[in-house]
Amino acid sequence: MRTSESELYAALVPAGIKRYFPVSYESMNGMIARNQVRIAKLTRGVSVRQVRMVCGLILYSYLISHFLNHALGNISLEALAWGLHYHVLFWQFLPVAIVFYSALLIHGGLGIWALYERRQFRWKAIEPLQLVLGLSIPLLAAAHVIGVRLGHTLFALDRHYPQVLHGYWSTMSARLWLLLIVLVVAWIHGSIGLYFWLRLKTFFRRAAPFLLAGAVLVPTLALLGLYQGGRIVMKDSADPAWRAVNLSRDKVGTPAEAQTLETIIDYSMIGYLGLLGLVLAARGARALRERRGGMITLSYGNGRTVRVPKGLSVLEASLRHQVPHASVCGGRARCSTCRIRVIGDCAALPEPSNREAFVLNRVGSASDPAIRLACQLRPETDLSFFQIFTPQTIAARRGAPSHIGEERYLVSMFVDMRGSTQLAENRLPFDTVFIVNRFLGAVSQAVIECGGQPNQFLGDGQLALFGLSTDRRTACRQALKAAARISRHIEELNRFLKSDLDQPIRFGIGIHGGEVIVGDIGYRDHLVFTALGDAVNVAARLQDMTKSLGCEMICSDELRVTAGLSAEALPRQDVEIRGRTGPMSVCVAERADTLSSLVDDEKAAAA
Ligand code: FES
Repeated sequence: MRTSESELYAALVPAGIKRYFPVSYESMNGMIARNQVRIAKLTRGVSVRQVRMVCGLILYSYLISHFLNHALGNISLEALAWGLHYHVLFWQFLPVAIVFYSALLIHGGLGIWALYERRQFRWKAIEPLQLVLGLSIPLLAAAHVIGVRLGHTLFALDRHYPQVLHGYWSTMSARLWLLLIVLVVAWIHGSIGLYFWLRLKTFFRRAAPFLLAGAVLVPTLALLGLYQGGRIVMKDSADPAWRAVNLSRDKVGTPAEAQTLETIIDYSMIGYLGLLGLVLAARGARALRERRGGMITLSYGNGRTVRVPKGLSVLEASLRHQVPHASVCGGRARCSTCRIRVIGDCAALPEPSNREAFVLNRVGSASDPAIRLACQLRPETDLSFFQIFTPQTIAARRGAPSHIGEERYLVSMFVDMRGSTQLAENRLPFDTVFIVNRFLGAVSQAVIECGGQPNQFLGDGQLALFGLSTDRRTACRQALKAAARISRHIEELNRFLKSDLDQPIRFGIGIHGGEVIVGDIGYRDHLVFTALGDAVNVAARLQDMTKSLGCEMICSDELRVTAGLSAEALPRQDVEIRGRTGPMSVCVAERADTLSSLVDDEKAAAA
């Protein structure tokens, strides 16, 4: 199989292309594997949150640029002017300006839409705070933006730092405070948005101290820069010559023009407040309509029932009635921990959206119509269901350190002891437990020696995680090394228990890496730190497959590529995995101890 694919590649890619794009079969294969993952991510569709986030990032970039410009005030007025020149040059370059103003409109529009659409504000205090901060920015910034931008457009006023700072410092002290508040509010709003986006990323924990330092330093320097600039301007403005140059009519306008701008500011603020009032009125009208449209009953399968209007998601209903419900990703259709199993007829349920279908497919539940995501399902009729994961009640575990859900790349390794049932026959239970414990001890030791973490013990099997504190490549190599070391340890164990065993202990290992949710899962005092997700399920299924393929280890080909092993390193084949569309390419090792030399050889070759 391996040879024919390589040959096919060699035959199909013309020599000319290879000369200009020297891509080997191996790296091509790796690129395809990575692209398959990217394509799979794209097929879940673009959500409103993603659009809002991209627009927010553009606006945050503008803020950073403007704040750095303000910070130059700590040097001199000339430095401020120099910074403003490049700031304006970039942001008013037509394509950039189009992107910026589009992002501004879309982000603002989506904020107002969120005020209407969001039915539940009890997720976490920071989310409604974020919305309030965002919605207050237009109110706070109206005077500054209209004074500077519209003043230039309507009356060709040439206002730069000297005029703006003089205006704020000399005549409009209330406006000065408003300006300072909007700078802080906009910065906090942007920083919270950035935090929500990055907190689930693998690198966040390492980058957090630097990001926090930047989030504190940049606005502090900007405010100090404005303060310094204002002081210099006020000192300079005592000089009539300075005033003649900097406060001329073409720069600050006439009183009539100033009055026109003031009127526009007043009306725009009234208009914006009116718009917010309309949105709130629309929310009220919707709530009334929903009540008239009918209420439905949700039954949680444990005797608890709640009555909610149609149109609410099951998770929103849980939050509204304070029913604990696992939701690690906060209702973003990313974690699948809110999953429910519907009891009874599923025919009346609305079809899953693309996003919900994508997540259900990833966790192997797409074919079961009774499994749905509570954060996405909006039932139209009465519904009975069970929550699949018991709610996280982290707060209940007082005093214990807790891990909130985090999405990251991890390598999952399932190890299972073969033939434990036969082992238990004709033995005292104590002897069986002793042997199983020795087996799990040998596996755990190998995992720890190679940098992994034994995570869960499932009867005579174990789930081990790699990559909690290393990069992907290292995690993959650690897992392969651990598989080899497990083999060595079991061999020693077999020698040690030779006289007690009818036949040597055998085992199966399945390894796969991918994005998973890690965090505390469980209930009250029974929380465990573990990983959930498609990658964990696949590893479990690969382990199971070692029985039918008669081998000791199976890992995904994706893992081999990430580990940096050559295509020839291990025999490969395509296998069907339950819950996955299309076959999956896996690598098979008949004996796991052969992996050791493999990982070491590759390392030596790389060196
Ligand atoms: S809460 Fe995460 S998928 Fe529903």
